[in-house]
Amino acid sequence: MTFHDEFDTILVVDFGAQYSKLIARRVRECHVLSEIVPHDVSAAEIAKRRPKGLILSGGPSSVYSPDAPSADTGLFDLGIPVLGICYGHQLMAKAMGGKVAKGTEGEFGRASLSATGGMLFSELPPEQQVWMSHNDAVAEVPPGFRAVASTDSCPVAAMEDTDRGLFGVQFHPEVVHTPHGTEFIRKFVHNACDCLPSWTSASVIEAVVESIRRQVGDARAVCGLSGGVDSAVAAALVHKAIGDQLTCIFVDHGMMRAGEAEKVVDTFGRHMSIDLVHVKAQDRFLSKLAGVSEPETKRKIIGNEFIRVFEEVASEVGLTARIAPDGTPIAADGTPVRYLVQGTLYPDVIESGGSTKTAAVIKSHHNVGGLPKDMKFELVEPLRNLFKDEVRRIGEELGLPEEMVWRQPYPGPGLAVRIIGDITAERLDLVRAADAIVIEEVKRAGLYKQLWQSFAVLLTVRSVGVMGDSRSYGHPIIIRAVTSEDAMTADWARLDHELLARMANRIVAEVPGVNRVAYDITSKPPGTIEWE
Ligand code: XMP
Repeated sequence: MTFHDEFDTILVVDFGAQYSKLIARRVRECHVLSEIVPHDVSAAEIAKRRPKGLILSGGPSSVYSPDAPSADTGLFDLGIPVLGICYGHQLMAKAMGGKVAKGTEGEFGRASLSATGGMLFSELPPEQQVWMSHNDAVAEVPPGFRAVASTDSCPVAAMEDTDRGLFGVQFHPEVVHTPHGTEFIRKFVHNACDCLPSWTSASVIEAVVESIRRQVGDARAVCGLSGGVDSAVAAALVHKAIGDQLTCIFVDHGMMRAGEAEKVVDTFGRHMSIDLVHVKAQDRFLSKLAGVSEPETKRKIIGNEFIRVFEEVASEVGLTARIAPDGTPIAADGTPVRYLVQGTLYPDVIESGGSTKTAAVIKSHHNVGGLPKDMKFELVEPLRNLFKDEVRRIGEELGLPEEMVWRQPYPGPGLAVRIIGDITAERLDLVRAADAIVIEEVKRAGLYKQLWQSFAVLLTVRSVGVMGDSRSYGHPIIIRAVTSEDAMTADWARLDHELLARMANRIVAEVPGVNRVAYDITSKPPGTIEWE
């Protein structure tokens, strides 16, 4: 699924994945499609994609380091505007004949920038706060360029050659600490590159729906729903495209949060009239999990059982009345069920594209909903080009309930990884009740969207307490609430003490068996977000 024909595109050349993702998101906030390409892509390959402009991202290297990532200098001769940011700025300066000086002290954090003209600074305040993070700096602009902004310690904080459409900035316009940064990027994409601001939820939905129709034709598709936003939006998009050719399967493993399973059935089955198979499989999962307390074993059991249930259901509902010799499942009515819908997001695509190094596997983060191995499905991935915030906006536009669209991320194995030790129906009820209180109070305090995740964890230890006149010997609940951009790192949320007190009081009063509440103040690293 590519949209280069439908939408003006900016390509972000990646010299350090975190920076480039943020830049791409900012460009899209200006309603222009942006995609990330690895730094070693050739100028010819870029030209084939017909972008309206390029942005060279920042990155952790020094242009002088022997293993510094380089770029095809032909990029500067494609006749399209190029904006270099930080490392990209220095690379541009070096490639075009300027000088980059090796830094000794560097410049990190907020800085005050003075602009002396400059096409992309027009209408912006001449003095503005920017975010700096660099050691090396451009000491001499290349021939044809002029320096257009500086800070106290950086004489060439911005340069331009408007004739050739080349721009470089040492600061980071993509981060929130550069308050006018998005405006600056907007000027580049709208004024310098002349992009149309057509990347909007409505037009993205139209383009995705059209592309699903082209891909699927008359065939049938299945989609596993998890209760999360990605599978919900993916299903809604595919349903809009192919209507009752889609069957959704909701394997309810019983580890969902309070009210979630009902919401899925209500939204998809009743309101949207999607062909939905709801499999209530809690007992099956619980019997497989009996006596298991090792976290990875729990995940594996849930993952395997999920596939087994999915397979059984698929054949029960006649989706796979038989398997053709080439492995294609054939439905009872003879229509091939060729497609499986998956909610893969753009960041997953970038990460598996090899432009970033694979992170060490800390936990097996398989999303429950793996593919039955002997069924040959082709994938429909309607969210492949989208960031999470775009998926949410599209979900809203498609009329999905706000509660579903703005749901905090949730692990596939659900409450199972928030119950330390044995998982039983009673312990599930207990943690679910505590979790519901945490969520309710966080929502009431208006913090639900600001927090990456907020939830309750149940431990195996017991502690002594006093309730009324008698001694209690109950379970502690841990409250975990974190802020994060992408779950790779996270900080514990500085929740108001009154809010914590309300949660703790309610949990002890309303959840039988709990007599103590603690708040987890560990960041990631060294902790992980989940307890298991
Ligand atoms: P950790 O605990 O590693 O989690 O900091 C990072 C993010 O991943 C989620 N998570 C999972 N998601 N299957 C999933 O689909 C899993 O087994 C799993 N374990 C953790 C976690 O909720 C957080 O958002």
